[in-house]
Order: sequence, then structure tokens, then C-alpha cells
Amino acid sequence: MCGIVGYVGSRSALDLLVPGLERLEYRGYDSAGVALAEPEGIRIVRKAGRIADLERVLQGEPMPAATVGMGHTRWATHGAPTTSNAHPHRDCTGRVAVVHNGIIENWAELKAELVGNGHVFASDTDTEVVAHLVEELADLPLEEAVRQVMRRAEGALALVVIRADEPDVVVGARRGSPLVVGLGEGENFLASDIPAFLAYTRRMAVLEDDRVVRLDADTATITDLDGNPVAVQERHVEWDLEAAEKGGYPTFMLKEIYEQPQAIADTLRGRFDQAGRVRLRELELSDDVLRAVDKVFVVACGTSYHAAMMAKYAIERWTRLPTEIDIASEFRYRDPVLDDRTLVIGISQSGETADTLAAIRYAKAQGSVVVGVSNVVDSSLAREADAVLYTRAGPEIGVAATKTFTTQLVALQLFGLHLARARGSLDDGAIELLTSGIRALPDQVRRVLELDGEIAEMASRWAGTRDFFFLGRSGDFPVAMEGALKLKEIAYVRAEGYPAGEMKHGPIALIEPGVVVVGVATDSHVRQKTFANMEEMRARGGEIFMVVEEGDEAARKVADHAIAVPAAPDLVCTVTAVVPLQLLAYHIATERGFDVDKPRNLAKTVTVE
Ligand code: M6R
Repeated sequence: MCGIVGYVGSRSALDLLVPGLERLEYRGYDSAGVALAEPEGIRIVRKAGRIADLERVLQGEPMPAATVGMGHTRWATHGAPTTSNAHPHRDCTGRVAVVHNGIIENWAELKAELVGNGHVFASDTDTEVVAHLVEELADLPLEEAVRQVMRRAEGALALVVIRADEPDVVVGARRGSPLVVGLGEGENFLASDIPAFLAYTRRMAVLEDDRVVRLDADTATITDLDGNPVAVQERHVEWDLEAAEKGGYPTFMLKEIYEQPQAIADTLRGRFDQAGRVRLRELELSDDVLRAVDKVFVVACGTSYHAAMMAKYAIERWTRLPTEIDIASEFRYRDPVLDDRTLVIGISQSGETADTLAAIRYAKAQGSVVVGVSNVVDSSLAREADAVLYTRAGPEIGVAATKTFTTQLVALQLFGLHLARARGSLDDGAIELLTSGIRALPDQVRRVLELDGEIAEMASRWAGTRDFFFLGRSGDFPVAMEGALKLKEIAYVRAEGYPAGEMKHGPIALIEPGVVVVGVATDSHVRQKTFANMEEMRARGGEIFMVVEEGDEAARKVADHAIAVPAAPDLVCTVTAVVPLQLLAYHIATERGFDVDKPRNLAKTVTVE
């Protein structure tokens, strides 16, 4: 996720671009940059860091008074968050500049071809290929050149392109990543999101996938990729600026819950080969290294630890490698037995959690192979691990992890299959079943989000409830743990996550009327056993809420209330099963009047022991 903005009109472009970027900083803050178009050439200023860092550089630079330009605030997905990787990117001549939000899946092939044609690249990004491709099409109008680029590039692209030869024009294009057009009087805008131009106009149009828009000061023309005109569907924005920054959602947390289908699609993007098999080329760990491993440890904290719990089940089931999991603050002091045949996976959305970093440093010192799973490109975890798998959820502003958790689950499932393929531990049929289940997740999560109204009703019933248990077995256990953590941290309610089968060994003494017991039963291995455990809770007066798979009629018999998520292979289903629990916690917290984005006593990233 990145923020992009373009402007064409009669005012100083720079004076509009920088505030526009500030409004989009929630989309990324690894680096920022602007480009201004003039007939003599394009002036680009970029800087690693936040927009404030860019502004400091701009203050010291004589900038042209251009009325056409574009800007970018980056959330790195490809290449470290350095100034040289900051957008805008230019072609070899310096007469074309590009900003991009998304991931170009076939960038390596395109780059190889362009290098073969003599182009010289100045960054490690996928985006730069667009600038050089447009350079090759210098004879065509910019709009047509961008259409051709869109036909060649695969993956997600929201692009804004300017060219010195057409200094009064801005061209945008979209596939997969958002891009909206702001329609002003004698000026027009392009942006990833409405807040970037809301101070100047409330008239806008959403650019649909595979559409190209050409803007000059007075007109906005939209075409499909064959150049056929498409009508501009104008809308009027009713939101105020604050609501617009949250995409119209009341909180960042809810927005991030709703971003999950897109975030998961981004996690999956480019991670399959032509035959549809998982290929994690970016891992840079040879199959020989993966085959030599004889034991796995997964270490993490908080929500990331719950992803580690799922990873243990997946890795053990799919690869038959013995897998241990540890809370990072425990691992570092318990003297675990590691050697150079041990694979240690550190999971941290921020990549900066002190305990997780200490754990992977310990593992490296023992000679183990360390893989990091991080949402932040070039985080300390990413830099220190031997290999890294990014979750690509985009920045998460709400303190409670939601989209970063589901994308961790997906990334770890992909890693499990990658390992299984390298070690030959799963047959083709099983791999295919799991892969197609994982690929269906964005749509399935979208369907679960449609149940929000139903979940909100249950939440209002339980807004005053003081005691919750969240129970599950096998892959449903980490989901239950995560549901309990969400409720604790944002609604300040005592909620215990527990293995369903273990309740009878003590905690069942706490079950009485007034206690709500949330059961998760999606894993076919153990579903019937979980039902039996839930019967035990009901017999003691607990009110039973179950998350089950669609079509599971048996669940209805034990549950006072049930939410059904789409059926998926075991463990893959953790991704959909957790979404109702995120929403439940969210609605209980808001019913109770709490600020879910900034829960008390918590920090988004814990960089102390
Ligand atoms: O950045 P990390 O994933 O390493 O963070 C780990 C935990 O601090 C984090 O998951 C925390 O538990 C969240 N508040 C959960 O919502």
C-alpha cells in the first residue's frame, strides 16, 4: 500500500501535492517524493523517511513553479525503503516519471528485456520498469503508451505518469490498487484516496480496473485498454475530511478489518508459478537448505504468536518436521537446543519487537537458519534474518492487529507449502487442494464480512458480559486465542483462550450462567470433539456461540448462536474463522464506548523487554 497523488491545473502543483501526500501518509511512510513537469524536463525530489523529511529537503531546494505534477508516499513492498528506491522513478532520459501503488508480478522479465535493450536502472523497485517501458514508446501519445504498458504489466497497478513532452497532461491507470479522479474547476486530480483532494473539490469519479485516464486542466477522459472511451461516472463526496481519511469507516480498526480481502490478495500476488504451485522466489533459500532442516522453531509475541501456533500445525502436518513454538520472551531465556539444521521462523508485523529480535539473534548465534515474517520492509527482523517473507498488509494504524494477522496466517501457509514441496512431503493432490483453498480466501473473507450486522447484534447482547471463554482444538485453538486477545485488549473484558479439551481439567469450574463461551469448530479432525466439549459448557449454564463452517448442521444443536464461515481445508480456515471474532471484539468495545484504535496501556510496537 502506498499513497499517490497527481495534479494538473493553474495553481502551484507543489503546494497541493505535499498536503495531499500528508493526507495519504496513513498508506505508507517509508519514503516520499514529488515530480514536477516542465517542457525542459521533469524535476524530482525524493527522500527516505516521512513526508516531513521530504518537506525539509524541499525547503532547501529552488523548485520550479510548475502547475502539473505528482507525488508518492511509500510503503515498501519491493526494495529497501531508501531514497534511491523512493518514487517517483524516471526513465533513462529523465523525461518520463512514474509513481505506482501495487506490485508488478512480471517485473523481473520486463526488466531483463529492458536491460537487454540498453536501459539503465537506478533502483531496486518493480515500478521503474514502467518508466523505461514508457520511454520505449516515446512516439506514442502518453495515454496510449500507458495503455500499452498496462497490457504488458501483470499484477496490481495504480499508476500516475507524466512526460516532459506533454507537460500539461497527467495520465493515470488502474488495476487492483485504488485510484480516484478529483474533478475541479480548471484543475483535476488523481489520488489513491479522496482525502488527498477533498480540500479542493467534492466532485470525483472512481477509476475502474483496466482503465486509463488522461487529465488536463479542463478535461478528464477515461478509456479502456483498447482506447475505447468510457463514461466518467461522477459522484459527490459527502464525508468530511476526518471520515474520509478512514475511508468513511468510524475507526482505523474497522477499516483494516474490511481491508483484509485486498490485503490477503496482495499477500498471494506473484507467489505462484505458471502451473499455480506456490513459489516463494524472494526467499532465496535453496531447496537443499530446506531439505537439510531437521527441526523447526517458531517464535513471536502477542497476535504474531497466535500465527506461530497455526504455523506449528501446518508445518508438522504438511512437512512432518518436528516444530516447536515459543513466546519470544520465554525462548530467549530458556536455552533452547538449536544447531545449523534448525530452521527458526521469527514472526513480527513490525519487525521491531525487542523480544522477537533477541530470539532470532540467539538462533543466528547458534548457526540456525532464520526466516523472518514481517509486514515492514527492511525492518530489523527483515534485515537480520537469512531470508524474509513479507506479508504485504500495508500499514496498520489500529493498535489491535487484524489484517496483519490474517496475512501472517496466509504467508505462513504459503511457506508451509513451499517447504512441503521442497521436501516432497505432500502429494500433488494435497498440495493442489490446499493451494486452491488458500487462493479462495480473499473472496471468502469478503463473504464473512457480510455477516457483520449479525455479529454486531450479538455484540450488543454481550456488551455488559464480564466473562468470556474462547475454545478450540487444533487449528481452531490459535483462532480462539486470538479472539480472546482481541476482546481483552480493546474491550477490557476478561476473556480466556483455552484448548477446548483441557477445560475439564480445571477451568470448567468457572462456567456458570452469565459466562459466554465462544467455540471455534472448523478443523475437521476435531470438530466433533469440540462439539462435545461445548455441550459440557452448556450443561454448566454457559451461553454458547460457535464459529463453524457453512452447512455444518450439527453445530446448530450445541450452539445458542452460530456464525458460519465458508468451508475451506483444515488450517486454511483459520483465516476466515478469526474474522467474526475480530468483529465481535470490535463491536463489544465500541458498545462499551472505548477508543479501539488506541486501547489503554498498549503500544503498537513493543521495543523494550
Ligand atoms: O509487531 P509484532 O507483530 O512483533 O507485535 C507483537 C505484539 O506486540 C502484537 O501482536 C500485539 O499483541 C497486538 N496488540 C495484538 O493486537
